Amino acid sequence: MSKLLIAGNWKMNNTVEAAEQLVRAIEENLESTIDVEVILCPPFTSLSKVAELTNKNSIKVGAQNVYHEQKGAFTGEISPEMIKELCEYVIIGHSERRLILGETNKIVNMKITAAINKGLNIILCVGETLEQRERGKTQEIIREQLTQSLSDIQRIENITIAYEPVWAIGTGISASTMDCKNGIETIRSILQEMYGELTAQSTKILYGGSVNPQNIEALLREAGIDGGLIGGASLNAESFVSIINKSNIFSQKTGSND
Ligand code: 13P
Repeated sequence: MSKLLIAGNWKMNNTVEAAEQLVRAIEENLESTIDVEVILCPPFTSLSKVAELTNKNSIKVGAQNVYHEQKGAFTGEISPEMIKELCEYVIIGHSERRLILGETNKIVNMKITAAINKGLNIILCVGETLEQRERGKTQEIIREQLTQSLSDIQRIENITIAYEPVWAIGTGISASTMDCKNGIETIRSILQEMYGELTAQSTKILYGGSVNPQNIEALLREAGIDGGLIGGASLNAESFVSIINKSNIFSQKTGSND
């Protein structure tokens, strides 16, 4: 088994100064022997500062979005090359970008292609809305998002999938371990159809949606996730470090490591 991964998606939070305080607080509390991959995804404005602060430790850094062109007249956009200068990861296809900013699977696919070409590691988010869930469309939506977002992408070694049911994001109500497990299994079986068993088994699948220090252990134990994409709880050093520590203890107990 590979290392568990805990990523903090700060979304549109933290000035550069607040970002610095948060990183320092996380570093102070994080044990040096931790066997969990930790990624911080601040807004673009703090990327450089967070990258600088973490460059001597094992914390990795990611952007929250990327544009699909490498350069040119695209006011306000940031290219894969610019991100690659500062960090290794990028989140693509988060539901807030899909639903608030109109990102389609086609756009997500173009972004993945552009990011892969520049050697970035990608966290691809998929997940159904409450309405889709209530209409029994969860599996169909996940299939549509995965197949279209990964269309013509031959290799997915650099891609981690995050299952983020929209109804669980920022609500304080995480998916049940059963719902989470079902989502993870659906994703793995679609990856298997697309890329074969070996790739499906070795691809990391995270869960995101109201993860906190109280529910992380059960999610790891019962839902078979490879880690979490944490929103609200990643904005507080104590809760974020606690999620990492609990993941570390879980990984030591079960023997997951590189
Ligand atoms: P919350 O942890 O705040 O529910 O957000 C999850 C998320 O959207 C991470 O990308």
